[in-house]
Amino acid sequence: MAFMSKKSVFLFSFFYSLFSLVLFCHGIDRITQGQSIRDGETLVSVDENFELGFFSPESSSLRYVGIRYHKAQGQPVIWVANREKPIFDTEGVFTFGKDGNLTVKDGNNISVWSSNTSVPSGDGVAILEKGGNLKLLSSDNKTIYWESFKHPTDTFLPNMRILASSGEQKPFTSWKSASDPSLGNFSMGVDSNGALQIVIWEHSRRRWRSGYWDERIFQGVPNMTLVANYRYGFKYIDNDFTYTLSNSSDLIRFQIRWDGIEEQSRWNESENKWVPIQQQPANNCELYNYCGNFGICTALPNPKCTCMEGFDPRNPGQWTKGNWSGGCVRKTELQCQRNISTAEQDGFKKFRCNKLPDFASVYTGVLSEDCEKKCLSNCSCNAYAVVENIGCMIWNGDLIDMQNFGKPGNAMNLRLAASEFDGKRLSAAVIALIVVAGVVFLAISVWLLWCLKRKLKVSVLPTPTSVSLMRKNEITVSDVSKSKEYSSEMSGPADLVIEGSQVNGPDLPLFNFNSVAAATNNFSEENKLGQGGFGHVYKGKLPGGEEIAVKRLSRISGQGLEEFKNEIILIAKLQHRNLVRLLGCCIQGEEKMLLYEYMPNKSLDFFLFDPAKQALLDWTKRFNIIEGIARGLLYLHRDSRLRIIHRDLKASNILLDEELNPKISDFGMARIFGGNQNELNTNRVVGTYGYMSPEYAMEGLFSVKSDVYSFGVLLLEIVSGRRNTSFRLTDHVSLIAYAWELWHEDKAMELVDPLIRDSCCKNEVLKCIQVGMLCVQDSAVHRPTMSSVILMLESSSPTLPLPRQPTYTSMRASIDTSEIYPEGQEIVSSNDVTVTMIVGR
Ligand SMILES: *[C@@H]1O[C@H](CO)[C@@H](O)[C@H](O)[C@H]1NC(C)=O
Ligand SMILES: *[C@@H]1O[C@H](CO)[C@@H](O)[C@H](O)[C@H]1NC(C)=O
Ligand SMILES: *[C@@H]1O[C@H](CO)[C@@H](O)[C@H](O)[C@H]1NC(C)=O
Ligand SMILES: *[C@@H]1O[C@H](CO)[C@@H](O)[C@H](O)[C@H]1NC(C)=O
Ligand SMILES: *[C@@H]1O[C@H](CO)[C@@H](O)[C@H](O)[C@H]1NC(C)=O
Ligand SMILES: *[C@@H]1O[C@H](CO)[C@@H](O)[C@H](O)[C@H]1NC(C)=O
Ligand SMILES: *[C@@H]1O[C@H](CO)[C@@H](O)[C@H](O)[C@H]1NC(C)=O
Ligand SMILES: *[C@@H]1O[C@H](CO)[C@@H](O)[C@H](O)[C@H]1NC(C)=O
Ligand SMILES: *[C@@H]1O[C@H](CO)[C@@H](O)[C@H](O)[C@H]1NC(C)=O
Ligand SMILES: *[C@@H]1O[C@H](CO)[C@@H](O)[C@H](O)[C@H]1NC(C)=O
Ligand SMILES: *[C@@H]1O[C@H](CO)[C@@H](O)[C@H](O)[C@H]1NC(C)=O
Repeated sequence: MAFMSKKSVFLFSFFYSLFSLVLFCHGIDRITQGQSIRDGETLVSVDENFELGFFSPESSSLRYVGIRYHKAQGQPVIWVANREKPIFDTEGVFTFGKDGNLTVKDGNNISVWSSNTSVPSGDGVAILEKGGNLKLLSSDNKTIYWESFKHPTDTFLPNMRILASSGEQKPFTSWKSASDPSLGNFSMGVDSNGALQIVIWEHSRRRWRSGYWDERIFQGVPNMTLVANYRYGFKYIDNDFTYTLSNSSDLIRFQIRWDGIEEQSRWNESENKWVPIQQQPANNCELYNYCGNFGICTALPNPKCTCMEGFDPRNPGQWTKGNWSGGCVRKTELQCQRNISTAEQDGFKKFRCNKLPDFASVYTGVLSEDCEKKCLSNCSCNAYAVVENIGCMIWNGDLIDMQNFGKPGNAMNLRLAASEFDGKRLSAAVIALIVVAGVVFLAISVWLLWCLKRKLKVSVLPTPTSVSLMRKNEITVSDVSKSKEYSSEMSGPADLVIEGSQVNGPDLPLFNFNSVAAATNNFSEENKLGQGGFGHVYKGKLPGGEEIAVKRLSRISGQGLEEFKNEIILIAKLQHRNLVRLLGCCIQGEEKMLLYEYMPNKSLDFFLFDPAKQALLDWTKRFNIIEGIARGLLYLHRDSRLRIIHRDLKASNILLDEELNPKISDFGMARIFGGNQNELNTNRVVGTYGYMSPEYAMEGLFSVKSDVYSFGVLLLEIVSGRRNTSFRLTDHVSLIAYAWELWHEDKAMELVDPLIRDSCCKNEVLKCIQVGMLCVQDSAVHRPTMSSVILMLESSSPTLPLPRQPTYTSMRASIDTSEIYPEGQEIVSSNDVTVTMIVGR
């Protein structure tokens, strides 16, 4: 300011403060054509979190137009307009150009930046919206011509949307240095080839990647652990990747700094400062391919590289010196590489990996065996893995950038030449021997204790040998569940054995009757958990201590043994985190039993309709449950290889795990029980009054849309905290009719459970109710599919179709079906059923 006199400086600051005051008071957040912002003036967003104006970076006198935090003491700058062309004095102006473009002009009236798009009619408005988005709009607010969120600088903000469906996108570029906003060496964005990843590039080379997105977390980020409702704010909506805040008054930013570090930080109001949440890359291990090809990095206690089993360092001299970049090479070439057809076929060795290698090809809806075949069929395939929520992943080419950081990790299968297995097989056998011996010892001890306790009572305990047999089966159980990669339930010894016993494909474990009887204390009354349409359910405990639920099926409609077994094996292959896991079965004579994982929190109805427990389900939990059920159902309908229609979805069939995550049970029962029309026994309409769609209840027709109907009823029950059937005692015919009435009169909030009405997120609840209403429409054609239901639930402000009035329930009331179907009970009638369900794929 050397060129200004003291007086003019005074005057300048006086007017400046006056002007700021005026601007502040009027809360100016927009300019229209003809207006402008001069150096010293600002636009402030209505939430007063963001401001747009001229600034100089630290230790620089150059002027730039940028968006900064208003509340957070103007720091840091999150968007810069003229980053490549600074203004050298304070004469700059941010305004509309003659042609309607937003421009930044310097003192000589020369444009240093332009939005390059203009409002054609010439009456545009530029608004700095809350959330920090600068928009160029037509004056009727209808059309957005340009927005800063689509042209970001170096900072990713909540609600910004990044296109994540077309390979690599690098929307963010770092500053050149702390004092120079021009384009720097680092860029950040997403790579959606295979499965979605966040990547930082240095020039065109990768510098860091997040690991694959599995719909909950980025697997390669150590601090992202699975929490109860697995919401980190990251979302994938309509091909866009975005981040949403759980509390809209939070300030959070993700910035790619000039030095190549991506920093996520949160503004702490009380401390008045930015608090870093996470920085990437956090250590050398996280640097891209730090250990070279086929090397795995472990970060703790110090970054350290190891070669994968079956591999040696390419350059042992450098490797021992701690220069790991050369990576590793195979000890023995693969059979296909050696081109000797007589050699033994290559095999797979299982190992655990947290950050899976880069450049996977992903195939969805492929079972484990087929994934393995896919890998074997191509000589360049080095590994495969089946990962929950991602699918079958195949790595053709070198395995690059792997990391382990002490979480359970994904099970990967590394392809090795047959000769690599000789030693391994021996050790697997030794391990198995030790495990079996241990188990037998344990079993005998348990048996002795048992005998002591029961004294003279007749023991139904299996002999030690059958226990060890059972224990072996249990190990295969974990085999079956190998795509459940996160299951921390997999405990020590079982884990050990999985490592070696993976060679044969998964098989359904068969338990013998005596051991199941022993586990359930001879199906004692106190072990009984409940009774469903298909038989009684008992709690049991395996000798290893693992708790299970045993479903003792009532007599099955003449189904043959083989047929039954085949069905069970198919159903056991359905693996999803929102489905109860089938652990095995027991078939002995007339007895048929299914063994499931045990859910300590019982079922949803137990919580939802119990005044004492209702309050435990706040809105977040309820929404989580709704979402989980929807995902599980979608998997049954579409993503599993079998197309399964549940046919009896209801609150008591939704079980809850420790963290109240929902798991659908009794899926596939209709397959086992419904089955074959040629059988002598009648087909049965399986379902529960109140959840059955009109076409199913009246004509026995079912399709995926009948499940959608049941889902709609369930959703309304979860929102309202009331049983559908509880309504017949009151003026209202049914929950559905009641919901429609309220919704129609714009009073939908009255439907919401009073316990959560005040604390819930209103928009989300209303959205859910509308989705529920869409699902319970009379006509199956009008109901959405589960995939659109999920889309509607997950997008933040979807435009939902208007539901039609459901008339079926009011109609039924006039027939008074409560006489026919006793309240809340399952009906098993002998209608002739048109089986349209089972569609193999
Ligand atoms: C800048 O240029 C516009 C036309 O392009 C003109 O109307 C205006 O007077 C000029 N302003 C200055 C300060 O030269
Ligand atoms: C506008 O176009 C110019 C020239 O093509 C380009 O250098 C500049 O980056 C563009 N500005 C924006 C905001 O896209
Ligand atoms: C203004 O925007 C139009 C497109 O709407 C573009 O053709 C023109 O080059 C822009 N002008 C400037 C100065 O960038
Ligand atoms: C545009 O939106 C603003 C508030 O954001 C409102 O004040 C103004 O009336 C709207 N203009 C039109 C034409 O709808
Ligand atoms: C950016 O890259 C150039 C050339 O590769 C290098 O000279 C410079 O030091 C790098 N800057 C930073 C901040 O890494
Ligand atoms: C959101 O954050 C603000 C300030 O940090 C706090 O006052 C408010 O209670 C929070 N709201 C919710 C719903 O947590
Ligand atoms: C802010 O920091 C204080 C002290 O470290 C902490 O107690 C508080 O929870 C923080 N607030 C937020 C919103 O993170
Ligand atoms: C994980 O979080 C802890 C504390 O919250 C932090 O010290 C550590 O640096 C974080 N690790 C990474 C890799 O960001
Ligand atoms: C590390 O080893 C590679 C070969 O594996 C070599 O090219 C490189 O120069 C070495 N780097 C250092 C710092 O020694
Ligand atoms: C493999 O062997 C066959 C005959 O044994 C030969 O024709 C073919 O070229 C070989 N392929 C490679 C990749 O060496
Ligand atoms: C094997 O994998 C490579 C690399 O991805 C691919 O180019 C080739 O087409 C594949 N071959 C077959 C037979 O699938």
